[in-house]
Amino acid sequence: MVKTLVLVFHPDFKESRANKALVKNITELPGVETFDVQAAYPDNVIDTDKEVARLLAADRIVFQFPIQWYSAPPILQAWQNAVLTRMYYINYENEGRLLEGKPLLLAVTAGNTPSAYTTGGANIMPLQEILNPLRVTANRCGLQWSDPFIVYEAMKASDEQLRVVAERYRNWLFSGNDEPDIQTHQSQALAAL
Ligand SMILES: Cc1cc2nc3c(=O)[nH]c(=O)nc-3n(C[C@H](O)[C@H](O)[C@H](O)COP(=O)(O)O)c2cc1C
Repeated sequence: MVKTLVLVFHPDFKESRANKALVKNITELPGVETFDVQAAYPDNVIDTDKEVARLLAADRIVFQFPIQWYSAPPILQAWQNAVLTRMYYINYENEGRLLEGKPLLLAVTAGNTPSAYTTGGANIMPLQEILNPLRVTANRCGLQWSDPFIVYEAMKASDEQLRVVAERYRNWLFSGNDEPDIQTHQSQALAAL
């Protein structure tokens, strides 16, 4: 069975609606481990032995987080500084090398609209471009990159809309047949409700 590790980088997952809805819909599935990194490390001090082992046990890795100030929450940077630095700069032969080739998927929630994330929109570029630092990181670490799963207008979504989006998320993760169109599908799903 393919082991999927979903690392959730949310500053306060207890207060989340969107990320919580996404996690809830996949957490009981066989082969899935969801892990709230901030709750495990409230002071951003990461246990690298545990986190390297967690990564190496997975077949594919998902970073899931809300966009905050056009970036990921600080816990993701702290995790990268601790875990990826150790794996790729200190213990490459025994650790980083073993991670290479695995897929890295991104699931991101955003408050703003799809049209805000366009060249002519309020945020002047697509969210995918804002996520490019993680794409470069994936490349540096030899991880397979694909188009992220994005939930726009996450704060405005009703419980029913979040349920539909969470269903899309599960399909995106586990059916593997609708990645390129997921944002269109998701926007249509939201528009239809
Ligand atoms: C401090 C802060 C900064 C934020 N910055 C952005 C931003 O740059 N772009 C955006 O689209 N949404 C932004 N948001 C909205 C969050 O992305 C949104 O609240 C979150 O995705 C909702 O998910 P949740 O219910 O799991 O918390 C921000 C929210 C907070 C609290």
